[in-house]
Amino acid sequence: MTTPHLLLVYHSSEGQTAKVAARIAATANEAGASVDVSTTDDAPYPGEYDVVILGDSIHAGHHSKGLTKYITGHLEVLNGAQVALFQVSLTSATDDEEHSTMAHRLVQDLLDKTGLDPDMVGLFAGALAYTRYGWFKRHLMRRIARSEGSDTDMSVDHEYTDWEAVDEFARNALAMAAEAAGDA
Ligand SMILES: Cc1cc2nc3c(=O)[nH]c(=O)nc-3n(C[C@H](O)[C@H](O)[C@H](O)COP(=O)(O)O)c2cc1C
Repeated sequence: MTTPHLLLVYHSSEGQTAKVAARIAATANEAGASVDVSTTDDAPYPGEYDVVILGDSIHAGHHSKGLTKYITGHLEVLNGAQVALFQVSLTSATDDEEHSTMAHRLVQDLLDKTGLDPDMVGLFAGALAYTRYGWFKRHLMRRIARSEGSDTDMSVDHEYTDWEAVDEFARNALAMAAEAAGDA
């Protein structure tokens, strides 16, 4: 039996995307797959993997420069491979049509900018990590949270990630990898 081999490349500014990446990797490892996890700073060449998972968070309405650069630098290989992309944002913390449309638009902006054509996309709610922000960012985020009717207690962090949805995304990426590895 061939062991599915996955690469997970992510960018995380305050740690939530890193947490999601770790959860996906743990799920894949438990299922017997091999997963190389890397930040965009030292990510390897994406060829030779059954599936490449790309993860990024949204800041000020944009994806990170790090992931954008990794994608454009390896676009041909990525578009010839099986790719699962996930996006972490506070937009996805609100479950209504307006926020859902906005979350999809943020993904589409990245695809338009890079030319990436992923096989799977996951949209996950992130966190308000007040205790990890500096003074300015903490107060800015509280102002935004207040306008969204979200959590404003700055003495604790607020996590909105739906871990069931993350696990489902991991299982789907694994199924894709198993198929690519010839095990399906
Ligand atoms: C300065 C700042 C700006 C942000 N801007 C946006 C935004 O424009 N849209 C959005 O949906 N989320 C925004 N967020 C929320 C982040 O996407 C969310 O906190 C996410 O969990 C961050 O993931 P990371 O910790 O992996 O970087 C912002 C967060 C910060 C701190």
